[in-house]
Amino acid sequence: DIPAAAHAAIRIIKGDILHTPTPDAFEVCEDGYIIVANGTVQQVTSNLPSEYADLPVSDYSGSLIIPGFNDLHIHAPQYPIAGLGFDYELLPWLERYTFPAEANFADPEITQRWYKRFLNKLWSVGTLRFSAFATLHAGSTLELMRLSQQSGLRPVIGKVNMDRNAPESLIESTDDSLATTQELIEESRELTPDIGFIITPRFVPSTTPELMQGLGELAEHYDLPVQSHLDENLGEIDWVRELHPDIPSYAEVYEHYGLMPEGRTIMAHCVHTSERERALLKARRVYLAHCAQSNMNLTSGIMPVRRDLDYGLNISIASDVGAGHVPDINHHIVQSIEASKMLSMLPEHQGERPLRLPEAFAMATKASGAFFGRVGSFEPGYDFDALVIREDDNPLSLSPQERLERYIYTGDDRSITHRFVAGREIALPFPEV
Ligand code: GUN
Ligand code: FE
Repeated sequence: DIPAAAHAAIRIIKGDILHTPTPDAFEVCEDGYIIVANGTVQQVTSNLPSEYADLPVSDYSGSLIIPGFNDLHIHAPQYPIAGLGFDYELLPWLERYTFPAEANFADPEITQRWYKRFLNKLWSVGTLRFSAFATLHAGSTLELMRLSQQSGLRPVIGKVNMDRNAPESLIESTDDSLATTQELIEESRELTPDIGFIITPRFVPSTTPELMQGLGELAEHYDLPVQSHLDENLGEIDWVRELHPDIPSYAEVYEHYGLMPEGRTIMAHCVHTSERERALLKARRVYLAHCAQSNMNLTSGIMPVRRDLDYGLNISIASDVGAGHVPDINHHIVQSIEASKMLSMLPEHQGERPLRLPEAFAMATKASGAFFGRVGSFEPGYDFDALVIREDDNPLSLSPQERLERYIYTGDDRSITHRFVAGREIALPFPEV
């Protein structure tokens, strides 16, 4: 028998449970139970063990229970421009839309309103953990961290660093960039204990060697993760080569300056990687954030996901809002599969297996969740991060897996009825905006 005190921390959840402990297939427990203790999954079972028989059950019979989504690459200040300017490619898009949009976040009123809307939106679509770029403004970045702390969502957030090749309104001196970053690291440890800080050089063209060096030292000193962009667009890659003719590849610029800590680095896009870059990304166990929708919107290219998975790279599915137009990870799962199918139809990729649904689902839950610890699956020891999904009844009698497929392809935030982060149910963070 379990002592009464232990009972208090136990929560039992009932429904049609699906997750992907391995990427090759969904593991399904229809009309089953998840036993959660202190926010952590103990077991998934179709028969409730007798010692739990008297405990209350959160009964979601008829609904799906799946791991929450994790988005390893999203730009919070770009939410207001999501969907705009996609007749441009990356570099002119940054100049015409992104930089002016981000410059607005010097304003505390815009910061408050739009970061609340941003967090509400991620909550609504079931993105419970994410890694976000803020802007270069330290005050506004801290505000995003505070609002995130209040929200119950569990992101890591970075102040963007940029000290070259940007307009007057969106550039900082090298010294200021490093000093304010360090202050923010210290302040956020006090003020927002559940929100991690991530070192965030925008991308190589935006950061001088001195700044990259200093950020690498901060990452090492404070043992922090790093996020940036890599090999998104051919013009961008040429530019990096011009800026750093002595370093053999784009990825090696980050490595050279200490910005690729092993197992703690996120690199977004990685569409046009070279063989030696892939070897480095593998050796450093980098999280590659696959942004299929963004890559299509800005005509950046199609990431050869099958080739890179086969090589052993660690790939997650990410939104890249605002170059991705929506944050909904179910849409990004679909677009990743579509992009992979498109590639497999081209002569030079013939015979390549396109991405399958359970694989893509795992890339949006378990693969991305690993960045945050034991997150993204319902295996014992994992944080209970979950979504309860309710779909309309269907004239066909669909299996739980088919209902999940339909939600991924056609569902939206209205399908999600409950959201749990580490065992705690999270309500709409900011109903007032
Ligand atoms: N490269 C540097 N900055 C950005 C950005 O804001 N969005 C995208 N998609 N790529 C970038
Ligand atoms: Fe991005």
